[in-house]
Amino acid sequence: MNQAPNNSVKSSDAGRSSDAVKSSDAGKSSVKLAAQIKDLTKHYVLKSETVRALRGISFDVPEGDYVAIMGPSGSGKSTLLNLLGCLDRPTAGNYVLGTNDVAQMTDDQLSEVRASRIGFVFQSYNLIAQLSVVENIEVPLYYMGQLNAQSRMRSTQLATMVGLGERLSHRPPQLSGGQQQRVAIARSLVNDPYFILADEATGNLDSVTTEEILALFQRLNDEGRTIIMVTHEDEVSQHAKRVIWLRDGEVQSDEPVADRKMFSIEEIEKISQNAEVRH
Ligand SMILES: Nc1ncnc2c1ncn2[C@@H]1O[C@H](COP(=O)(O)OP(=O)(O)OP(=O)(O)O)[C@@H](O)[C@H]1O
Ligand SMILES: [Mg+2]
Repeated sequence: MNQAPNNSVKSSDAGRSSDAVKSSDAGKSSVKLAAQIKDLTKHYVLKSETVRALRGISFDVPEGDYVAIMGPSGSGKSTLLNLLGCLDRPTAGNYVLGTNDVAQMTDDQLSEVRASRIGFVFQSYNLIAQLSVVENIEVPLYYMGQLNAQSRMRSTQLATMVGLGERLSHRPPQLSGGQQQRVAIARSLVNDPYFILADEATGNLDSVTTEEILALFQRLNDEGRTIIMVTHEDEVSQHAKRVIWLRDGEVQSDEPVADRKMFSIEEIEKISQNAEVRH
């Protein structure tokens, strides 16, 4: 298998902006890692066979990175995402999330870190239909027993930040797909996560709405948010800083995006204005 070299600092620096490379060159040890995985293996044991879904995967995700994970069906993308999201445990290998060694955690600690430090964005939004926009954004705080006087202010700020300041009391069925996904993105940020883990986040959206979401991801990443997304679409992956290709449970390549597609500030503004007009 044609596995890409994985000197993690090098490969992840290669995918970063020139500013980031400069600062990391100044002191490599100062690059903070959002996630570090090494020789990650996942086997599913079935009655008659063992499926080797991941066969020793290694890479680092520095804070501020924007990674697209791609690969054919069955290559292990969802399996990897489940492990990164602490939804499942590896069969072998290491995973350090921020400074936490996931392998050493009890199940309770794993659920806690999942609820408190990972922002999930799913293809199907996974919002609660009976709750308003601000209440949906607060859901992770509720699960952690952290709803307090500041929660409403924080969720209102996040709703405004994703362009939904005028729709705080709407419920998901009263919103478009793109608006629902923006609620989900705001919800993913309420806990100040190590990274946003997005699974085909634009998979249900038309091309114009996909652009809105990608412009929002770019803005969040420009502000320092780390994003890891699974996508089937080349067009979408071209907006990331780095693409990791999986094949048969291994990393086939791990490269910076050569001609990264980026929205200009004017385009970002125009896209959000159009989004307001359209909905
Ligand atoms: N719970 C499970 N039990 C047994 N085998 C599984 C399980 N989940 C995934 N697999 C197997 O592991 C391999 C990787 O699956 P995975 O879902 O990670 O692929 P994927 O890259 O996400 O594919 P897709 O693009 O179709 O979503 C496949 O061979 C799949 O059949
Ligand atoms: Mg999948």
